[in-house]
Amino acid sequence: MNDIISINGIKQHLSDPGLSENIQIYQELDSTNREAKAQAVNKAPHGTVIIADYQTAGRGRYSRSFFSPRGTGLYISFILHSERIKFSSPTVITAYAGLCACEAIESLCGFEPAIKWVNDVYLNGKKICGILTEAITDIESGGIGELILGIGINFSTKTTDFPEEIKNRASSLYPDSRPPITRNRFAADIIDRILHCGEIDEKEIFKRYKKRLFILNTEINVTNGNERYKATAIDIDETGSLIVKRENGEIEKLSSGEVSIEEDIKYFA
Ligand code: BTN
Repeated sequence: MNDIISINGIKQHLSDPGLSENIQIYQELDSTNREAKAQAVNKAPHGTVIIADYQTAGRGRYSRSFFSPRGTGLYISFILHSERIKFSSPTVITAYAGLCACEAIESLCGFEPAIKWVNDVYLNGKKICGILTEAITDIESGGIGELILGIGINFSTKTTDFPEEIKNRASSLYPDSRPPITRNRFAADIIDRILHCGEIDEKEIFKRYKKRLFILNTEINVTNGNERYKATAIDIDETGSLIVKRENGEIEKLSSGEVSIEEDIKYFA
C-alpha cells in the first residue's frame, strides 16, 4: 500500500467522482493557502482543491508557521465562493472544518479527537490538525468574495521528527505505527465533507462541535488582541462565539482570539 497522494487515488474514494474535477496535487508548494488565494484572485471555480505533499512555508494563524514535512501530512486548501456557502459567517465554515476533521478521523481511524476553540484538533493531549481560513474581499461589494479554507493534518509524522519547540504539544494520527489507511482515502473523506457543507445547518454544526469541545468548564488563558487574561470557558453560542467567565466574574463573548490551556495533557490523562 503506497501512500502517494494522487488524483486517481483520491477519486476512487469520493462519493461523487465529479468532485475530483477541480483537484490539483503538488509535490511541493510554499503554502496551499497562498496558491489557492492566487488562483481565487484569477477566478478559479468554487470547489477548487489544492493539495501539497510538502509545504516549504506552511502558514498558521497569527502569521505563525505550520510544520509541513514531506510525505507524512495532508495539506489541503479549498476555494469557496461566499455566495455558494449559506453560512452566516466565516466562523461557521472554520468550525465546520474542525468538525469535519474530527468526524473523518473518527470514522476512518476510530479515534476520538477533540477541539480546542476555535479550530485546533487534539488527540491524546496533542495538536494534530490546524485550520486557517482566509477571506478575499470583493472590491465592488466590499464584502467577502472568496474564502480560502486551509486544513493541515499531521498524518504519520513521527514524534521524533517534530521540531524541538513543538514536540511536547504536537503529534500526528499515527506517530508510532504504520497507518492502516492512505492519505488519499483521508483526503477524499475531507473533500466530501467540506464540499457538501450546504447540506448541514448551523445549529446542527454547533451541536456536534460543542460535544467535541474539551475546554468547557476548564480554566483557560485568553489572548484577544493585546489583552491576555485567565477565564473559565462556559459555553459556545449559536454563532460559535466562546462564552467565558473572567476571574472578576464578568461574562464575555469571544468571537475571535485564541485560548490556551496550561495542562492539556492532564485533561486527557
Ligand atoms: C494553525 O494551526 O495555526 C493553522 C494551520 C493551518 C495549516 C494549513 S496546511 C494547509 C493550508 N496551507 C497553509 O499554508 N496553511 C493551511
